[in-house]
Amino acid sequence: MADGPVMKSLEKDGGIVIRDDWPGYCLDLFTYPERYSGDLECVYIPHGVIMDRTERLARNIMDDLGDHDIVVLCVLKGGFQFCADLVECIKALNRNSNKSLPMRVDFIRLKSYLNDQSTPDLHIVGAEDLSVLSGKNVLVVEAIVDTGKTMKALLSHVEAFKPKMIKVAGLLVKRVPNGSGCQPDYVGFEIPNRFVVGYALDYNEYFRDLNHICVISESGKQKYKV
Ligand code: HPA
Ligand code: MG
Repeated sequence: MADGPVMKSLEKDGGIVIRDDWPGYCLDLFTYPERYSGDLECVYIPHGVIMDRTERLARNIMDDLGDHDIVVLCVLKGGFQFCADLVECIKALNRNSNKSLPMRVDFIRLKSYLNDQSTPDLHIVGAEDLSVLSGKNVLVVEAIVDTGKTMKALLSHVEAFKPKMIKVAGLLVKRVPNGSGCQPDYVGFEIPNRFVVGYALDYNEYFRDLNHICVISESGKQKYKV
């Protein structure tokens, strides 16, 4: 195969890399709920870009998994929007191709953050009976992966149910100092170590209803601190 620079960069698709010096877009260039004005610093990833990237991830996923029953396992709550949009794209691919495969969607809930800090105790809720995963291609869908610890714990939990294959789709991968090296197979964006909200990502349950991914401001953090 030709080994040019473009081919190389696509060989391992680690997502769209957003560099540390990316300032984001001025909030006034976009629309967002008025009540959040003052709580946000910038639009980091506009909603339209998220949608366009998700469409491509869906294609990559179907190229790999599209030959066997698939169970999408959505990690709530942060993953609900990405999962819904990703499933919508997969459905569109299924409508427009000669092969269409059975797809189920299941949900589990994880909780490990208070304010903008990760807490050591991870709670997995709703994962009691995942026997449906046995023998299936499982696609775990997460909004954000940072240390990879949550993902590692979740994967070992899922593996116990003997799926045929497990793949992970993460919309965002955060560059954090102590990343465990546990990376999703499909990555939307690799982002700097900043706390982001919107597109179902929350800060103490706020901002899930914001459609862009934004950086929260210091005053926003103070306002919604618990
Ligand atoms: N935002 C929201 N939730 C999160 C983040 C973040 O940046 N990192 C881990 N959980
Ligand atoms: Mg959260």
